[in-house]
Amino acid sequence: MRKIYVFDTTLRDGEQSPGVNLNTREKVEIAHQLEKLGVDRMEAGFPAASPGDLAAVNAVARAVKNVSVIGLARSRENDIDAVREALKGAADPCLHVFLATSPIHRKYKLKMEKHQVLEAAQSAIRYAKKYFSKIEFSLEDAGRTEADFRAEVVAMAVREGAYVVNIPDTVGYLNPEEYGAIFRHLKENVPDIEKVQLSAHCHDDLGMATANALAAILNGADQIEGTINGIGERAGNTAIEEVAMALETRADYFGAKTGLTLSEIARTSRLVSKLTGMSVPGNKAIVGANAFAHESGIHQDGMLKEKTTYEIMSPETVGYKESKLVLGKHSGRHAFREQLLEMGYMLEEEQLNEAFARFKDLADKKKEITDDDLLALLEERLADAPEQYVLESLSFSFATEAAPTAKVTVSAAGEGSRTAESGGNGTVDSIYNAIDQAVGEEVTLVDYAIQAVTLGKDALGEVHVTLRQNETEVRGRGVSTDVLEASARAYIDALNRLAEKRRLPGSRKGAEKVW
Ligand code: KIV
Ligand code: ZN
Repeated sequence: MRKIYVFDTTLRDGEQSPGVNLNTREKVEIAHQLEKLGVDRMEAGFPAASPGDLAAVNAVARAVKNVSVIGLARSRENDIDAVREALKGAADPCLHVFLATSPIHRKYKLKMEKHQVLEAAQSAIRYAKKYFSKIEFSLEDAGRTEADFRAEVVAMAVREGAYVVNIPDTVGYLNPEEYGAIFRHLKENVPDIEKVQLSAHCHDDLGMATANALAAILNGADQIEGTINGIGERAGNTAIEEVAMALETRADYFGAKTGLTLSEIARTSRLVSKLTGMSVPGNKAIVGANAFAHESGIHQDGMLKEKTTYEIMSPETVGYKESKLVLGKHSGRHAFREQLLEMGYMLEEEQLNEAFARFKDLADKKKEITDDDLLALLEERLADAPEQYVLESLSFSFATEAAPTAKVTVSAAGEGSRTAESGGNGTVDSIYNAIDQAVGEEVTLVDYAIQAVTLGKDALGEVHVTLRQNETEVRGRGVSTDVLEASARAYIDALNRLAEKRRLPGSRKGAEKVW
């Protein structure tokens, strides 16, 4: 079997999803899980964007030991220097440097002729070579670049000693036949092409990112780039779990495999969804809630007789287990810690104390606590610094014949606590109006979604909200046995993320326009 290298860009291209802003602790948490999943390379961010981005990449670089950590740079010395700084302490550092090559980008964005693009890319690689032994060069918008110019740039990158050459379909424009043909063309026409690894980087604007990555593999790509759950800029990137499972399930056809520990897929997907606030659609391949559910009677009958009638891969392969009862009201700290260890969570003392307090609180309200409940509790926000706002108390009144009202008390760091009361056109609206008054922030609620974590009337409710303030969008998540409390927590979580963005000036999304 040919090995296909997996380059994960959840923490960089994935984090470019609108409304997603991972802080340093969250990035490190995801990085540890990506390491468990067994990705070969992980792109941790774009250090030149801001000091905060640089610090987050550095934290990942120092935390991760078994995966090559990568920082992104434009073809500029300052950007490359920022990656050098960010990757200090990395076990296996790699620079990812890029320049657009397509006629549209050359003319309108770069205002450069072909020869200038070639020279700028060449001098960036030469400069980088002084400091990095591993360099990946990307031809941004390679998919819409003239075939001969594309081959010329790739040949230059090979000559200059790049380690990986990446051929992005930056705008998700190509179909599998066209994208695969590019790899074939490069393999057949670029001198010494075997000296580099060729990489596929696809976007999903036309829903073809996974198919395009697989077509690239069939035509000689050595590496695929993508994100967990397919998150990313606009319609997202290739979903790594989809490519890995396509290669696994159809090994007979592709003759290639990734080195991923497939049973970590479900947990990784869940963690990324929780920390980014981007919920996974139920019908999403591999990791959607319905991906292994059989609804029609005919299908269920077939499944009972022989699973392979309707199941081409098993949920266990990707790490789905039936949610099982794990702890109850009388479980102590030791049992709690043991259970977390069994689920793969090794918490530091302080985190363990915090999680145990929340577990006890939940056990008072919910008779039976399953592993899914624990996951929901554990994957609450990991703040880098003490939160700006804390929900101290919440009460509301509702009657079918009267307008709802809500009263909240919120404490604000360094400013004591404030109480506000408000009405609204529903209880959630009243709560949100009251919070707005208490904190004095002007925000718009862009999206609100609610789901149950487990079955049963006493299930935990999980609420996701998206808030907008001027040009900034943030997502928040809240979990509670009471859906109104979960709604309030999600809103406060989003407000805290806004506050964090203000605290870290020059965050990438507000910074220079790069793409
Ligand atoms: O889509 C793209 O072209 C990119 C590059 C920076 C590699 O993300
Ligand atoms: Zn991209």
